[in-house]
Amino acid sequence: MSLQATSMKGGGYYDRNSSIQASTNATAIPLIQKAIEEMDMPAAGQAFTLVDYGSSEGKNSAEAVASAISSLQKIRGDEPISIVHNDLFTNDFNRLFYNIYQNPEASYLFRSAPSSSDSSAISGQRQKNVFVTASGTSFYEQVMPSSTVHLGISAWAAQWLSQSPAIRMNHIYYAGAEGENRQRFAEQAAKDWLQFLTMRTNELVSGGKFVMTLPSQVSDPNALLEQVRSTPETMNNKLQEMVAEGLIDRDVYENFIFPYYFRTLDEALEPLISKTSPLSQKVSLDSSLVQAIPCPMFAEYLRTKDKAVYANAYVSWLRAWSEPILAKGIFSRSASSESDAFRMIDDFYGRIQETVEADPLAHIFKVEACFLVFTKK
Ligand SMILES: C[S@@+](CC[C@H](N)C(=O)[O-])C[C@H]1O[C@@H](n2cnc3c(N)ncnc32)[C@H](O)[C@@H]1O
Repeated sequence: MSLQATSMKGGGYYDRNSSIQASTNATAIPLIQKAIEEMDMPAAGQAFTLVDYGSSEGKNSAEAVASAISSLQKIRGDEPISIVHNDLFTNDFNRLFYNIYQNPEASYLFRSAPSSSDSSAISGQRQKNVFVTASGTSFYEQVMPSSTVHLGISAWAAQWLSQSPAIRMNHIYYAGAEGENRQRFAEQAAKDWLQFLTMRTNELVSGGKFVMTLPSQVSDPNALLEQVRSTPETMNNKLQEMVAEGLIDRDVYENFIFPYYFRTLDEALEPLISKTSPLSQKVSLDSSLVQAIPCPMFAEYLRTKDKAVYANAYVSWLRAWSEPILAKGIFSRSASSESDAFRMIDDFYGRIQETVEADPLAHIFKVEACFLVFTKK
């Protein structure tokens, strides 16, 4: 089975439990501002189109979009701006529009902060000439018509592959793959990355720019294992435990692999700069940067030393991105009913929480992110 990605856990859960992603995205904001300052603007009266690929519920995109709007308004006043949030059609787009229209912490559509008398309400003047829409098309297809996008942004999304490689291994995560299996992941990831970039290049106007934030791995695969070992290892161990206890069907477990891959900087750059890449004639690389990502949850743990609070935050973060796909790929296939599947899911994450609480230092999500900016020639 080659599993496809599913959306994040909805209803505001991803928004509330994605502080690692949010803290990474802050680094992209000056890159977005610089990209706008350096670009040619559309003619007067024509809309500037910004597309956010893999937006999820949108809270983590809000600051980037707000700063893009503000940069554009400094240059073009109230000329029209079209914002498109893209994600899989299964995404919680209701929550995304709630964020944009109702959530004082996430709405970029209103110019001023909420009034202190009612912090649950949006106040202030609505941004003039800012139009917001959403797209439920996979970003492995063309999402927008050719030559219509001025600025593309995407954060923490293209590590989700179009499908997992059709292999069987005794691990659910590519970091546990070795030899040929690891190679199959790298090949799938390279194919998907070229497809993603080709679609974006078609969509960009000439001179249009793309600012990409990707979780990334250092080039040495062993170092990667060290970096993220705790998360996939613990998840895999708990699933194996549940297989051994007869709760999860072995065949279902062995067929499940996350369609997920962290590229090295070299792998991320290859289609943009290699002379043999079909894209290198069409795009130019403006900048690339790799940075360690701070983990706000762990920083808080170091301050409070509260193991239970840390374990709860860590598992909530894990659930936000992994629960829907595990529910689809493993638990709904092993359970006798929907309520049984929910019980198994709670059992699984409960086991992880106990392990994290027992040894927080063995469960730190330490990754790097790479930030790429490129221009369509
Ligand atoms: C980890 S979330 C990132 C959300 C947000 N950009 C952030 O920075 O927190 C990854 C998002 O990518 C979306 N995604 C995965 N594969 C996709 C695809 N093929 N097309 C569009 N969106 C996809 C998922 O549904 C999910 O909402």
